[in-house]
Amino acid sequence: MEKDLSNYRKSYEKGELILDNVSENPIELFRDWFVEVDNHFDIDEANAMTISTIGLDGYPKSRVVLLKKYTFEGFIFYTNYNSEKGKAIESNPNVCLSFFWHAAERQVIIKGKAEKIAENMSDGYFESRPRGSQLGALVSNQSEVVENRIVLEEKLKALELQYEGKEIERPKHWGGYIVKPVEMEFWQGRPNRLHDRIRYQLQEDYNWKIERLSP
Ligand SMILES: Cc1cc2nc3c(=O)[nH]c(=O)nc-3n(C[C@H](O)[C@H](O)[C@H](O)COP(=O)(O)O)c2cc1C
Repeated sequence: MEKDLSNYRKSYEKGELILDNVSENPIELFRDWFVEVDNHFDIDEANAMTISTIGLDGYPKSRVVLLKKYTFEGFIFYTNYNSEKGKAIESNPNVCLSFFWHAAERQVIIKGKAEKIAENMSDGYFESRPRGSQLGALVSNQSEVVENRIVLEEKLKALELQYEGKEIERPKHWGGYIVKPVEMEFWQGRPNRLHDRIRYQLQEDYNWKIERLSP
């Protein structure tokens, strides 16, 4: 089978990034971009991001998770700590997050260190989730092999009965990570492949070094 995609071409014309105008702190630029993308472009789940980890087998692996909060400290998402990504982070906390906001012709790439957030923060978020999602976190041993779908559905039914009328507590193996950035790169598509790329690197004095990269 062969499918030639060499004619897929697009000119990027939706914005620009000027070094003199960007914030000194990349999280501020991230906020400006996120708000703009979320409000002014037709983008579903602007908070969907790819997280790449280095696995126990030495291979990088990428998958999508949902960004649930960002602060000046970093980027927070929730998952199962025993999942493949959880084990990867346990052995190597260096991760990469990336966002591709197609309609805005923008990409953001964040290298950083992942760490578990405080238990009470995970509790707070877990409590805010719909009951179905809470039960889902209990049902699924994320990333483990499961014999078939029926096993999961029956486990869900059993848990629905067990917890009927009762509060569901967060399982200890489910919670948040914060990714604290050490490098952030902002990419804005431009005509003729002369895209804008601005990279921020965290220095020892906690200031950010800002440079333009060649596209
Ligand atoms: C749009 C989208 C959002 C997702 N959000 C999450 C999430 O917030 N947390 C999560 O653990 N998995 C999420 N997933 C599933 C992950 O991509 C992945 O399948 C799962 O976390 C298991 O990954 P692992 O086995 O590499 O640990 C999402 C998938 C998609 C496509």
